[in-house]
Amino acid sequence: MNSRIEEIRQAIREFSESGSQAADLFRQNFTGKNGSVSKLFDDFRTLPKEEKAVLGKLLNELKNEAAAKLEVLSSSAGLAEKTNRNEDLGLPGDSSFTGSRHPISIVLNRVIGIFNRIGFTIADGPEIEDVWHNFDALNMPESHPARDMQDTFFVQMDPGFVLRTHTSNVQIRVMEKQQPPIRILAPGRVYRNETISARAHCFFHQVEGLNIDTGVSFADLKQVMLTFSREMFGSDTKIRLRPSYFPFTEISAEMDVTCMICGGSGCPVCKGSGWVEILGCGMVDPDVLQNCGIDQNKYSGYAFGMGIERIAMLNYGINDLRVFSTNDSRFLSQFSGINS
Ligand code: DAH
Repeated sequence: MNSRIEEIRQAIREFSESGSQAADLFRQNFTGKNGSVSKLFDDFRTLPKEEKAVLGKLLNELKNEAAAKLEVLSSSAGLAEKTNRNEDLGLPGDSSFTGSRHPISIVLNRVIGIFNRIGFTIADGPEIEDVWHNFDALNMPESHPARDMQDTFFVQMDPGFVLRTHTSNVQIRVMEKQQPPIRILAPGRVYRNETISARAHCFFHQVEGLNIDTGVSFADLKQVMLTFSREMFGSDTKIRLRPSYFPFTEISAEMDVTCMICGGSGCPVCKGSGWVEILGCGMVDPDVLQNCGIDQNKYSGYAFGMGIERIAMLNYGINDLRVFSTNDSRFLSQFSGINS
């Protein structure tokens, strides 16, 4: 019997079948009703007492070894069944779809972040605005030719209201409510009665800035614009201010920055000039301060306004304004992973 135990132990150890049938086969050969281990137990019962004492221990060890091996074979068979064997387990997992921020939001958030860091807080105003806040208080009375600079949507039920043509209305609303120091940034959507094309749209986004305090000068405006431009477009960026006209600023300027596509050497985007225009700015006209109840002899300040679509187009090399509002996921998905 001793040698049979040893033989069977050897056979158990050498059993090397694998796959879902292996456990069944093992049971059949060894631990099942007619298996060799079970048969040994039958024979064991017929042995004399003295032999039983010696062989019982060996037999039990054999039984345990067989049970442990069966356990391993059954669990790996279960696992194999659960797994689709045709699948390549070495392949990377499916990545789940993540959305992306709209390029307008990306640019807007960057602009806001930069001005927040230098002390500008966010201010808000209505998109359906009365003509006082959108035009008159900004030195654009009716009949003033400046009013024609912006094609306006009037509210049909009440000609005293318009869809705001710019975010400059927020300047007026803030100055009416608050005395200086004022340092605000007003991002938002604006509307113009324009025929939609690659270069014009009936709505777009602007950011207006306003800083009013004692002793604020044009030099402050220049420094803030330079800081902003370098943060936004890179530390080598230069700025250039050209004299211009806006009814609500005196003096007024348009600001160009070094072309972010060619770095100033000249390319189709900057039409070979090395410069691109990004905003209008100037010293707030004292009449505008007066319209809002701010003492023009005590306070001065600057304002600026920029178009977000324009900056996004320059930044990303986009040449058609309409792509921002057509919700084409092929366009939008290109911005995934940009989170600012
Ligand atoms: N409101 C102007 C526009 O929509 C932009 C602008 C220019 C705003 C100069 C300003 C400024 O505050 O100083 O075209």
